[in-house]
Amino acid sequence: MSELELEPDITIDEDHLERIGDGSRRCCFRIPGQPFCVKFYRTPAEYTKKTRRSVRTSIFFSRFCLWFNVNYHEACYHARLRKRLPPDLFAAFPEQMRMVFSRKRGWGVIESLIENADGSAIRPVAVEMRETEDRALRERLYQAMAKLFDQLAEHSVCFYDPPNTMVQWTGPNEFRLRIVDFEPMGRALIPGLSLIPIYVRYKVRRRCTRYLKRMRESYLAPLPDEDGGAAALCLEK
Ligand SMILES: Nc1ncnc2c1ncn2[C@@H]1O[C@H](COP(=O)(O)OP(=O)(O)OP(=O)(O)O)[C@@H](O)[C@H]1O
Ligand SMILES: [Mg+2]
Repeated sequence: MSELELEPDITIDEDHLERIGDGSRRCCFRIPGQPFCVKFYRTPAEYTKKTRRSVRTSIFFSRFCLWFNVNYHEACYHARLRKRLPPDLFAAFPEQMRMVFSRKRGWGVIESLIENADGSAIRPVAVEMRETEDRALRERLYQAMAKLFDQLAEHSVCFYDPPNTMVQWTGPNEFRLRIVDFEPMGRALIPGLSLIPIYVRYKVRRRCTRYLKRMRESYLAPLPDEDGGAAALCLEK
């Protein structure tokens, strides 16, 4: 059994982690009995057919080298955001993030576990919009997303991947939008650009505007009786 001692309050038994989320590069594991999860890069045993060669190469370099490690960049950026964002906007991110090292898995990050009120896993906003029949709810999700993106751009927060916006159900008809994957360095050829607020604002606005347009077209197209029967709802991922 391999155990990672972090602080008196958290011990991770690496052999008994429950996998709750799969990204292309990282997997997220619930830490039993704790309000935390831990994210590590996939190990070769966790690669799938979708783990392309370029992704494997990037994982190989990032796992043990902090400079390339997304978990490290996210944890550092998270600490900076805590100091400079208004609390209501910072609340979109996990409350806690801290680095952890595993000899087997390399550098990972422990962060507050975000789950729905009924204990189920959070899902991306696009999935929630696609799966609900309730148009009013779709509108609410869309408006919340537009407001969040506006605030993120306003505060020059490096959030370049709007599909990573998640919905956390806090009650039967109540939700909060959350961001658990923000990769602040982006994948730009010149990573230093993320230090220039005006560039960040421009890029975040451009990406989010494009994404909102897609969401509108996919899930908020006029109903047949609203536009003479032309556009039915076209539900795509
Ligand atoms: N703090 C958290 N609480 C609950 N679930 C989480 C948390 N962080 C991540 N997850 C889950 O784990 C999944 C994978 O994590 P993440 O998106 O950070 O990986 P990734 O490899 O960066 O993904 P991508 O390929 O989209 O870039 C998320 O989509 C989400 O479902
Ligand atoms: Mg990611």
